[in-house]
Amino acid sequence: MQVRKLFDGVYTLDGRLCTIDIGAGRKVYGEDHLEYEGKEYRMWNPYRSKLAAAILNGLKNEHMRKDDKVLYLGAATGTTTSHVSDIIEEKGVLYCIELSERNMRDLLVVCESRPNMIPILEDARYTDKYADTIAECDIIYQDVSSPEQAGILEANSRFLKRGGYAYFAIKSQSIDIKKKPEETFKKVLQSLEKTFEIVEEVRIEPYHKLHLFAVLRKR
Ligand SMILES: C[S@@+](CC[C@H](N)C(=O)[O-])C[C@H]1O[C@@H](n2cnc3c(N)ncnc32)[C@H](O)[C@@H]1O
Repeated sequence: MQVRKLFDGVYTLDGRLCTIDIGAGRKVYGEDHLEYEGKEYRMWNPYRSKLAAAILNGLKNEHMRKDDKVLYLGAATGTTTSHVSDIIEEKGVLYCIELSERNMRDLLVVCESRPNMIPILEDARYTDKYADTIAECDIIYQDVSSPEQAGILEANSRFLKRGGYAYFAIKSQSIDIKKKPEETFKKVLQSLEKTFEIVEEVRIEPYHKLHLFAVLRKR
C-alpha cells in the first residue's frame, strides 16, 4: 500500500482520501477502515463531505492543525466533523453546533468515542446562546444550507481569532433559486468583505451540485 500526505492529518492510501482514526475504530457513516503500519486509516467520502470534495478538486491549502480549536456550524450527524476530529487529534477541540434534535441524537453517538468533540444543540443564528461555552477558535467551518448563510458566518466570526480561517460551504439554491449560482456566490462573498478576505474558492461538482467551497481569512 502507498501512503501520501496531502496536508497535516490528511492522506491518500492507494489514492483514496483518508484521515487517521482517533475514534476507537468505530465507523461513523459506513466508511471503510484500513489498518496499515500500525495506524487505522478512515476513508473519506467526497460525496458525503464538502471539505473532502474541495481537497479532491484542488484546494491549495488546508489550515487545520493538530490541537486547533474549531467551531463547526451545521454538524449534522457527524460525517465531516469526525474527519475534522481526526485532523485536530485528541488535544484539539471541536465545538459542534447543530439545530436539529434528530441529527443531534446521531451526533451524540459519534461524540462518545471522540473526546475532542463537544455537541451543542443550538441555532447558529443566535450566538449569545452558546458564547459562554466557546473559546477563541482557529477555524470556523460552516455548512448550514440556510438562506441566512452569510449572516450566520458574520455573527459567528466573533469567536474566530484575527488571521483565523473560515471554511464556508455556500449553497446557492438555499439563497436564491432564480439567480445564477455564480451571481449568488459573488454577492454572498462581497457581503462578508469587511470582516474577511477571500483566500480560495473551489467549486465542488460533481460531488456537490451548486455549491462553492470558500476559504476566508479574518481581517
Ligand atoms: C448540509 S447539512 C451539514 C452536513 C455536515 N456539514 C457534514 O458534512 O457532515 C446542514 C446541517 O445544518 C443544520 N442547520 C441548518 N440551519 C442551522 C442553524 N441555523 N444552526 C445550526 N444548524 C443548522 C441542519 O440541521 C443540518 O444538519
